[in-house]
Amino acid sequence: MSPVPWIFSGSSRFASSDRETKTHPLLPGPPTSSLTDRFGQTQIEKKIYERGSTPAFARIGSMNLTGLIARIPKAELHLHIEGTLEPEMMMQLARRNGIELAYASVEDIRRAYDFTDLQSFLDIYYAGAQVLIREQDFYDLTWAYLERAASDNVRHVEIFFDPQTHTDRGISFSTVIDGICGALQDGETRLGITYRLIMCFLRHLSADAAMQTLEDSLSYRDRIHAVGLDSSELGHPPSKFVQVFDRARSEGYLTVAHAGEEGPPDYIWQALDALKVERIDHGVRCLEDPALVQRLVDKQTPLTVCPLSNVKLRVFDTLEDHNLKRLLDAGICATVNSDDPAYFGGYIGENFLRVQQALDLNADDILSLARNAFAASFLSGRDKRRYTAEIDQAAH
Ligand code: ADE
Ligand code: ZN
Repeated sequence: MSPVPWIFSGSSRFASSDRETKTHPLLPGPPTSSLTDRFGQTQIEKKIYERGSTPAFARIGSMNLTGLIARIPKAELHLHIEGTLEPEMMMQLARRNGIELAYASVEDIRRAYDFTDLQSFLDIYYAGAQVLIREQDFYDLTWAYLERAASDNVRHVEIFFDPQTHTDRGISFSTVIDGICGALQDGETRLGITYRLIMCFLRHLSADAAMQTLEDSLSYRDRIHAVGLDSSELGHPPSKFVQVFDRARSEGYLTVAHAGEEGPPDYIWQALDALKVERIDHGVRCLEDPALVQRLVDKQTPLTVCPLSNVKLRVFDTLEDHNLKRLLDAGICATVNSDDPAYFGGYIGENFLRVQQALDLNADDILSLARNAFAASFLSGRDKRRYTAEIDQAAH
């Protein structure tokens, strides 16, 4: 294997035309008045009190919220397996595969994780993924994630993988999927974590390349549940992939898409109307468009929100500015997830804890987030009811 000395040198594998400066910095959210107009105080209060005569937040003191967060069963719905590559494993795999990293230590790698926007992260993330060569590497990566997830009481995962990140550098589709699925299967048997696998298309690449990837995936159709859309959002609207998603649905795949992370609300509309997705990944910019909020509420289309990611990639300046609480109060089916935890400073438990503290979420908020995740998952109705009953038990 030839050395890859440019890893982490800051150079991009994308042509400059694929990069766009962020022209739509996210506002903290609409003024309260616009939310109040649509989802006024009485409606929010009604929602809270409909949950029971003694709301959980009145029964569970803030000291016990940490315990509640630790013990509730969780479903993770927005997790890029390549984004779980911890610097320690990156060093080990580089050594194992004879790849030269431009950084000498784990600390050096961590120091490079100072992102200014999504693209600045993606450049480093794709470079890091190049240490993944053999089936065993994909297995080890996935297994390490599952062990961490188990320690956060994650019971169900729906994970993304990006085949093009690997097939474009000569790694076969089967190497990638055999390694990931081998670990997922062992995770179900040994850790009791159920799973679904979601194949993402890289939106900075062409629709033709996505279509080819879709065709290549058909040999593994039984192992892939859904397709998604990720990578550089600005300048690559969902509409670019309408034919690919039409074909994917005709092959029986469910669909999701990243939209409204950095991109405008219109990209969320396109994902809903043109790609006909079951869920929106991120979607936090929806609050800029009241009609879109109404649509998400009416259809209960879930958002897979990733609080620590949004701060690391400067979608919000601080966690205190995050709009998760406003999404919940608006009646949106929001969930908490970790996105690329090795790069963003925390797995799902840490996301719950940090966002609870930053936004002063109460027990009912935490329980709603946990229930929403199972409701939004691709599990059967029976499994959803089973997990929801476990959450109800954990509340007492
Ligand atoms: N790929 C990995 N993480 C991503 C994110 N947060 N947004 C878009 N593409 C990604
Ligand atoms: Zn993501």
